[in-house]
Amino acid sequence: MKKSKHEFSRIINSMPSSGIREFFDLVLSMDDVVSLGVGEPDFSTPWHICESAISKLEKGFTSYTSNKGMLELRCNISQKIFEDSGVKYDPEEEILITVGVSEGMDIVFRAILNPGDKVAVIKPSYVSYSPCVIMAGGEAIELECREENNFKLDPEDLEKACKQGIKALLFNYPCNPTGVSYTKDELGEIVRIVKEYDILVLSDEIYDSLTYDFEHTPLISFPDMKERVIYLNGFSKGYAMTGWRIGYIAAPKEIVGLANKIHQYTILCAPIMGQFAAIEALKNGQPEVQEMKKEYKRRRNYVVNKLNEMELTTFMPQGAFYTYSQIKKTNMDSNVFAKKLLMKKNVAVVPGTAFSEKGKDYIRISYASSFDNIKEAMSRMKVFLEEL
Ligand SMILES: Cc1ncc(COP(=O)(O)O)c(C=O)c1O
Repeated sequence: MKKSKHEFSRIINSMPSSGIREFFDLVLSMDDVVSLGVGEPDFSTPWHICESAISKLEKGFTSYTSNKGMLELRCNISQKIFEDSGVKYDPEEEILITVGVSEGMDIVFRAILNPGDKVAVIKPSYVSYSPCVIMAGGEAIELECREENNFKLDPEDLEKACKQGIKALLFNYPCNPTGVSYTKDELGEIVRIVKEYDILVLSDEIYDSLTYDFEHTPLISFPDMKERVIYLNGFSKGYAMTGWRIGYIAAPKEIVGLANKIHQYTILCAPIMGQFAAIEALKNGQPEVQEMKKEYKRRRNYVVNKLNEMELTTFMPQGAFYTYSQIKKTNMDSNVFAKKLLMKKNVAVVPGTAFSEKGKDYIRISYASSFDNIKEAMSRMKVFLEEL
């Protein structure tokens, strides 16, 4: 296509496109692919949640809501956060309903950053993190969480970044793509540094309900952290509600106020249908969350075992629904590995380079796929490796 005579946004022009788009275009063009690539639950939203939204639709509730979201939902979220963390958030001023955690993250960065502000971003991590910082005019300082540390953030790396003058840390646990999570003690060390250097933390805890081996400890539950943490959570993963697009921010009033300014001019409000569904999810959705979690855990144990049997070293993820497996023994770079596996055996996995520049030795496998699919993919992978 002919290049335009206009100079478009330099920031956006300089950003690379998401590394996995081209790969998944290829997946879509093929038949009989077993995909362990997607980052969303394979379950449908529990039916009572859908029904509750349908009944509101039938009654004619199809309008905008308050910019911050329906007060009833904000009250229910405030109650849920209190039950999980013991911390009280004022539903009027400290909670904002967003279009997923995705919107929450975007508007928080735009609300808190000035041009050139530095934000430490854990790596490997969700593909949107560094781009969100950059789009808000900030600079992303990437902190690699290494395999020899079981993919956990090394407190020393955080301390070094603090000394470089970061304004905030973008943290996520359980983590996409590694599945790593942190015990209360491990979080304590991070909290100590956050307080010592007085930085902010955007804590993306969207997979909190999918923590398998110990209780999830919210970062806000530590003393004096409420004033420093912007807590991001939502309904997409735990409740299998990706398409309803509901997330939320819980944060100090001043930050919620600034984020809401952007939200009201650009989004207006999160969709009303999703908000009704979220109310029902919080009221009556816990049994299904527990059932889905049980099934993910069964799959996790199976997949990790199979991958290690194939000598693709795989750390036991403590949460979310991903494994991050080392493929060094194949002498292939993760892009080559993923493409070959797709072309030869019709199995899709995501190359680690989508999540970190240092991800060439890793692939992400999502076990948010049926047990039968997973079994089939594992047996195809075994043959693929034997044929190398
Ligand atoms: C760590 C993490 N944060 C946020 C999101 C986006 O969530 P939402 O659907 O709430 O926008 C994802 C989606 O994959 C994710 O993995």
